[in-house]
Amino acid sequence: MRIFSGIQPTGRKHLGNYIGAIRGYLDGQERGDPAVYCIVDLHATSVAYEPTALPAYVLDTAAMLMAAGLDPERCVLFRQSDVAEHSELCWLLASVTAYGDLQRMHQFKEKSAREQELVRTSLFLYPVLQAADILLYKTDEVPVGDDQRQHVELAREIARRFNATYGEVLVEPEHVIPTSGARIMDLQEPEAKMSTTGGTEQGRIYIDDEPGAIVKKVKRAQTDSGSEIARAREKAGISNLIEVYAVARGVAPEEVEREFGGQGYGAFKQAVGEAIADLLAPVRERYRELRADESELERTLAAGADRAREIAVPVMDEVHEAMGLGRSVRHPR
Ligand code: AMP
Ligand code: TRP
Repeated sequence: MRIFSGIQPTGRKHLGNYIGAIRGYLDGQERGDPAVYCIVDLHATSVAYEPTALPAYVLDTAAMLMAAGLDPERCVLFRQSDVAEHSELCWLLASVTAYGDLQRMHQFKEKSAREQELVRTSLFLYPVLQAADILLYKTDEVPVGDDQRQHVELAREIARRFNATYGEVLVEPEHVIPTSGARIMDLQEPEAKMSTTGGTEQGRIYIDDEPGAIVKKVKRAQTDSGSEIARAREKAGISNLIEVYAVARGVAPEEVEREFGGQGYGAFKQAVGEAIADLLAPVRERYRELRADESELERTLAAGADRAREIAVPVMDEVHEAMGLGRSVRHPR
């Protein structure tokens, strides 16, 4: 079972990333042969970014993933730009990607609308690079949050069209989206997902937030004017808190509704804040230690890139062969 996922090096990761995706990576680490996790710095260049800050963000993200429980001995953890095959396969897959499919991507529409100066062509190609990430490892399963559903579906379509055009080389991946916690909402704007780029600062819980700060943010979370602890369409704020509490305590949402039935929002919010703080505290503590040793993090990523290349290069050979490209370079005589 080959498992692959990617995560952007955008500084501090949040509760949505942890619950929606990182927990899935941990599960994948147990089942993957191997599980491959990539910090996608090339994707980060598809919008305005600060080149001098990016390397540190990559280390932040690597340390955060390890603090959450990824063990580089048991999975492959690496930086995308260390493995040139990702960029190369992106170009090659562009030949089996429909322009119209890219125009239909929700994230492209949202992000291009937000861009102030320049809508980069790389933002348009972003889903093709993501497909390359996945297909380069002949991935069976992709653990992601709900917002990546359309991108993984496109990767499947690209694999199908590649195989139909050039011969059976690539594997059609399945997404693995958690049944609860796949879409954690912003605490201040519960109609919008918790996000590094959108949403609000106060509505976002960072994985490395102090317990006191977490409780404070949850207590101030936006909720409706009612008093019932129950999930409902018009109660987006409370519904989100119920889901988060259920995941943090490992119980079903129905059980949460029963447990807090008859109690007010204040007591419930306090309990949710404490549950999140308990969930994240061990990660935050390990993060501090791991982040301090930069040369060790660099060594870990370099070793991960070597292992990633061992898988990727033979797949690229097959792709080249199928497409009628570059044999003399790959098989010098
Ligand atoms: P990103 O930080 O955009 O690279 O996202 C990393 C992973 O976190 C992806 O698998 C996303 O689907 C997931 N994710 C991001 N935001 C949320 C959210 N609010 N709720 C659940 N999962 C999320
Ligand atoms: N687009 C994904 C996100 O924003 C990150 C990503 C890049 C990814 N390549 C991937 C996720 C491959 C899964 C598989 O979250």
